[in-house]
Amino acid sequence: MVSSTSSLVFKFLTLTLCLWFLFGTTSGQLSANFYARTCPNFRSIITRAVNSAVSNEARMGASLLRLHFHDCFVNGCDGSVLLDDTANFTGEKTANPNSNSLRGFDVIDTIKTQLERQCPGVVSCADLLAAAARDSVVALRGPSWNVVFGRRDSTTASLSTANSNLPSPTESLSNLISTFSNLGFTTNEMVALSGAHTIGQSRCTVFRNRLYNENNINSTFATSLRANCPSSGGDNNLSPLDSTPTTFDNRYFNDLISQRGLLHSDQELFNGGSTDAQVRTYASNAATFSRDFASAMVKMSNLSPLTGSSGQVRTNCRRTN
Ligand code: HEM
Ligand SMILES: *[C@@H]1O[C@H](CO)[C@@H](O)[C@H](O)[C@H]1NC(C)=O
Ligand SMILES: *[C@@H]1O[C@H](CO)[C@@H](O)[C@H](O)[C@H]1NC(C)=O
Repeated sequence: MVSSTSSLVFKFLTLTLCLWFLFGTTSGQLSANFYARTCPNFRSIITRAVNSAVSNEARMGASLLRLHFHDCFVNGCDGSVLLDDTANFTGEKTANPNSNSLRGFDVIDTIKTQLERQCPGVVSCADLLAAAARDSVVALRGPSWNVVFGRRDSTTASLSTANSNLPSPTESLSNLISTFSNLGFTTNEMVALSGAHTIGQSRCTVFRNRLYNENNINSTFATSLRANCPSSGGDNNLSPLDSTPTTFDNRYFNDLISQRGLLHSDQELFNGGSTDAQVRTYASNAATFSRDFASAMVKMSNLSPLTGSSGQVRTNCRRTN
């Protein structure tokens, strides 16, 4: 009797614990407390380093957010984007959307070195990117979200998947919708995630055609941009993606309504199509955008992680162990 009561209590506690793990803190095999015993300070190490990098150069917050996006969209959030090319290994850094464009690798190296000093071989590069992306948005006064951990790092990368899965700035609305739906995102989530362009910069070569050949662009805006982005030359000259590029706010959507989207793909979200209404909602309601962006980021951060004994925890994010 006593033993069956205590076994019942035991079962109840086990069940409660399982439910808590399932619904309280985990996503698949990722969990909020994954490094609680193995590297209890990892979050503050990352947050402090991100804050320092962003106060040194605000754009770095944008660059780190983009690194996580370009990691997750290519075979899941597995740190593949960080692998350097070598004589016998082809990574993703030379893919069209990444080449001469992604940045922040040195900041990731600096943070990884600090993590290795505290807890050697414990915190994965994929988890580091997920935490740094969140901390970057917070550092630029955007919303926060809960990141769960336990992603492991790939030993492979895919140049061809980077070229096929990452969206191009020349895409139409219907292509943007399908690029994101191929990875399980709704159109609403695609629009929310595009709001990441509320921070950061783009190179002239990416938006030149829009300045000289498109009609759905604010003429005052186009004229002012042409000075720094001539019809030939100046390919690497930078312009901000929205009018407040160091603040994570909803200005991007207001800019789209004024036909001040910088990229062709940005303006596609407000060009008389099915996403116009959502752009208007976000333009007039910053809290709604923040909430939707945060939940879409949680979903993106959890794309096909390597867990358990798959992959490895790299000691240097640029190469496999
Ligand atoms: C919707 C489809 C998207 C397209 C076509 C796109 C394309 C681009 C392009 C072409 C640039 C400029 C690159 C350069 O000039 O070298 C850029 C910058 C950026 N993108 Fe996207 N992007 C998209 C979605 C996203 C998403 C979902 C995120 C993150 C959640 C994101 C975050 C960023 C950030 C933060 C920058 C600025 C980076 C910096 O200043 O270093 N983008 N994007
Ligand atoms: C690839 O090259 C590196 C040196 O760059 C070498 O150490 C490694 O063994 C090589 N790997 C394979 C699979 O050939
Ligand atoms: C062009 O931009 C200005 C300044 O934001 C704005 O007042 C104007 O309404 C815009 N024009 C159009 C056609 O959206």
